Amino acid sequence: MTSKKKATILVVDDEAGIRKSFNMILKEEYHILNASSGSEAVDLYKSHAVDLVLLDILLPDVGGLNLLEKFKEIDPAVEVIMVTAVKEVPIAVKAIKLGAYEYIMKPFTVDDIVAVIQRALEKRSMLQEITYLKTELERIRPFEHMVGEDPKMKKVYDFISTISQSDGTVLIQGESGTGKELVARALHNRSPRKREPFVVVNCAAIPLTLMESEIFGYNKGAFTGALSTRIGKLEMANKGSVFLDDIDSLDLKMQAKLLRIIQEREFERLGSNKVIRVDVRFIAASNKNLAELVENGEFRDDLFYRINVFPIKIPPLRERRTDIPLLLEHFTNLYVKQAGKNKKRFSEDAVHALTDYDWPGNVRELQNFVERLVTITKDPVIQVKDLPPLMGNRKTEIKDLPLKDAISAFEKRYIAEVLEDTGGNKTRAAEKLGIHRNTLLTKTQDKD
Ligand SMILES: Nc1ncnc2c1ncn2[C@@H]1O[C@H](COP(=O)(O)OP(=O)(O)OP(=O)(O)O)[C@@H](O)[C@H]1O
Ligand SMILES: [Mg+2]
Repeated sequence: MTSKKKATILVVDDEAGIRKSFNMILKEEYHILNASSGSEAVDLYKSHAVDLVLLDILLPDVGGLNLLEKFKEIDPAVEVIMVTAVKEVPIAVKAIKLGAYEYIMKPFTVDDIVAVIQRALEKRSMLQEITYLKTELERIRPFEHMVGEDPKMKKVYDFISTISQSDGTVLIQGESGTGKELVARALHNRSPRKREPFVVVNCAAIPLTLMESEIFGYNKGAFTGALSTRIGKLEMANKGSVFLDDIDSLDLKMQAKLLRIIQEREFERLGSNKVIRVDVRFIAASNKNLAELVENGEFRDDLFYRINVFPIKIPPLRERRTDIPLLLEHFTNLYVKQAGKNKKRFSEDAVHALTDYDWPGNVRELQNFVERLVTITKDPVIQVKDLPPLMGNRKTEIKDLPLKDAISAFEKRYIAEVLEDTGGNKTRAAEKLGIHRNTLLTKTQDKD
């Protein structure tokens, strides 16, 4: 399927006659390797790219099932067909459980064996194709769930890739609704821990009195009401990642306990002295400026330094306006599909107006807004008139101003756009605008 290259089959059988007959049947179509013992088979297997193994169960040196396990361990995608002279159902069942494709009895007809081999190889090449497509997809869209191509976001994606293989603690900061949880999940999903749990500890939502039992778990009788033993989020997350959302909400006492766990990866359940070790990666998030909280004495500086090993700052939407049209389109398609409606889109003017809007609630606000509009509008094109006044009027605002104010409003907006195009580089922006850099500096200063 993927190429015309001949598949490689390793024939493992101590009987020369059997090997010979396999060779006669298969040599036209496939590249054949022969082994008369287990050790010879392992050597050949390790030194060649084997697609399929025809494996005798009874070999002089090692058991066929052990070999099967070994082959699968080296390459889980290899197809193995067990061949045997004796019918033993328990062995057949075990072989299939260990991942053998099929279990066939000698004597067999040429047609039978050829058909089984063809099916097994077809399955293998399909699996290879899927794996290939998956990695290809990851290469093209490394963050499947994240929409946005602004250079600032690309930097965030690159950084996620760079740190995903490490176990270092990550601190994600950004305004509410910018996508902190999404970034945390992307990080987990790209890490070697991706098949293990991603456990969210919502520090703002859990009352402080329950925080310890949530995180550490408790033994039966640890406190009134502890009727049975319950494991906490840390234990649930073992081998995976713990997402400490809104970490700024923890009180100083809990911060101290958390610091110990992050340092030592050890804790005890409430009501127990047994030390439990966990292997977890910590990802923390906050929509506050933690450094400021540290200055005000509201957040422990030692914990801050401990979690700020890899800092990620997600810019607010108004600082990456080029992503707004993309997000509008993404969520429109999503909600139209969910509601089973016909295609919808925003008119060009509406997109402009919404790109001008500051989105204080960031992506979450935009997402909720699109959901609402897709539901309430009837026409396939959503127009400026359908937008709430606050959003839709920004462009027309200028119309109602005296000329002097309109010119200055336009100038401000235009400068902001050019600055955005140049990624905030004032020298390049001034060049584009055809004014002196100092003039631009004065203009941007009195903007604030
Ligand atoms: N780049 C993006 N592409 C697509 N969807 C996004 C993007 N960023 C955020 N979202 C969506 O916006 C919503 C808010 O994102 P998320 O919950 O990750 O934000 P947050 O920063 O954790 O917010 P809060 O501080 O309020 O907890 C989610 O539904 C998320 O799927
Ligand atoms: Mg969040």
